[in-house]
Amino acid sequence: MGELIAVLSGKGGTGKTSVCAGLAEALALQGQQVLCIDCDVGLRNLDIALGISQIGALSFQDVCQEHYGLDMATRHPVYPNLAFLTAPVNCPVENIDADSFCRMLEQARSRFAYVLLDAPAGIEAGFRLAARFADRVILVTGAEPAAIRDASRAGDVLELMGKENVRMIINRLDPKMLDVMGITVDDIMDQAGIPLLGIVPEDSQVILAAAFYQPLLGYGKKGAAAACKRIAKRIQGHKVPVKL
Ligand SMILES: Nc1ncnc2c1ncn2[C@@H]1O[C@H](COP(=O)(O)OP(=O)(O)OP(=O)(O)O)[C@@H](O)[C@H]1O
Ligand SMILES: [Mg+2]
Repeated sequence: MGELIAVLSGKGGTGKTSVCAGLAEALALQGQQVLCIDCDVGLRNLDIALGISQIGALSFQDVCQEHYGLDMATRHPVYPNLAFLTAPVNCPVENIDADSFCRMLEQARSRFAYVLLDAPAGIEAGFRLAARFADRVILVTGAEPAAIRDASRAGDVLELMGKENVRMIINRLDPKMLDVMGITVDDIMDQAGIPLLGIVPEDSQVILAAAFYQPLLGYGKKGAAAACKRIAKRIQGHKVPVKL
């Protein structure tokens, strides 16, 4: 059975969608069958981060409501192991039936090794929907105080939800900025109270790949792309050292 991984943050704009796309591409490139689902109902943009915004995609709600089967999920043109479901546009998250959502995820789990859920910002309904059925949670934070505080708060909410497998990715890390701020990665982990899964550096290729409708891993080889590949290995249980 495959693993359900929710990519969450708390604070908006920390890079959940970019990291989710980078990890999905890396896992697929490394031979895994992957489904990634945009759970940012109303503000979806995982298709852009995957470089497939010009291809029409089925929404997860279409599958939940059994209008279409999972086999109709969009296949990534560059990574054939990677399938994608977008978020419905005109459906408030409160109207998504949790039982149907859970059924769809169980089906997905039986067909894919990894199912990644890209959550909206905040700790409300969308956060809870993505986290509720997840086996593992990845909290994406920045190094700035507001992001760390929100990651810590999100960690508390996840603990109350009974989530045990929660790890943090520090995104957009700039070692020079850390020096100027006088803090270390250890300090960020202490303040957030969440163990580290990995570090993704600040990298203009994340922005450029999306601007040129390219998947990050097709566009960049170093920086954020290389970091996503290392983290994807760790997700599969390999020991890969954390690089600053
Ligand atoms: N490692 C990085 N280096 C440089 N830019 C990045 C990096 N990660 C993300 N970005 C940029 O930061 C912005 C926000 O990223 P993204 O949309 O992935 O965040 P998000 O957490 O999903 O946002 P939201 O909370 O709105 O869903 C985007 O413009 C993205 O290109
Ligand atoms: Mg997002």
